[in-house]
Amino acid sequence: MKFFIDTANLEDIKKAYKIGILSGVTTNPSLVAKEGIKFEDRITEICQTVPEVESVSAEVTPEAVTAEEMIAEAEELIKTNNGDKNITIKLPMTIPGLEACRYLTKKGVKTNVTLIFTVNQALLAARAGATYVSPFLGRLDDISEDGVLLVEKIAQLFRVHQINSQIIAASVRHPDHVTRVAMAGAHIATVPYSVIEQLSKHPLTDQGIEKFATDWEKAPKR
Ligand code: E4P
Repeated sequence: MKFFIDTANLEDIKKAYKIGILSGVTTNPSLVAKEGIKFEDRITEICQTVPEVESVSAEVTPEAVTAEEMIAEAEELIKTNNGDKNITIKLPMTIPGLEACRYLTKKGVKTNVTLIFTVNQALLAARAGATYVSPFLGRLDDISEDGVLLVEKIAQLFRVHQINSQIIAASVRHPDHVTRVAMAGAHIATVPYSVIEQLSKHPLTDQGIEKFATDWEKAPKR
């Protein structure tokens, strides 16, 4: 399973990129709004900051409701970024979103169909040619449903029908989500930087480092 970072914060993106674990970036209108910067400008900055990742998801704005409006926004984004191959157009799981997905896929543009909460939605998105489908597990858990189970079912369905769309486990809230979606067959987990940090930590690691340092003080140095 690969890691994408789920943020529009440039500093967090830089930190994760520096570690060398990053395969992509996902953003959404709420994440961009938190940054207080124009959406298109931030997408360009992100693409320039992480040139080697496979995907930078830029979501069409809530103002684009029809397929034509979504396509127009997508084409503008691609043009502004000089046809950057990493740019992945993130589309809502709606009928116009699927239409736009099919159109953009045919043009060779990567797509990410977002806000997926059922296996059937994932199947539709895949059949519309989505490069990525994004089930939101945390938001399902929030309403007492099983988000990881959804990822597991989508992974099974994609295996049975040899579907190539990649599953991005989204709305990931904590390290246990990461372990469980990896085992469930997600291709990617998109996570905030705070979760990446949590993944790297264990109290016994900290204790071990401290003990090695104390013992090292006592060891003869020559
Ligand atoms: C993914 O693409 C979304 O941006 C994100 O994971 C949503 O997560 P949230 O439910 O924590 O807002």
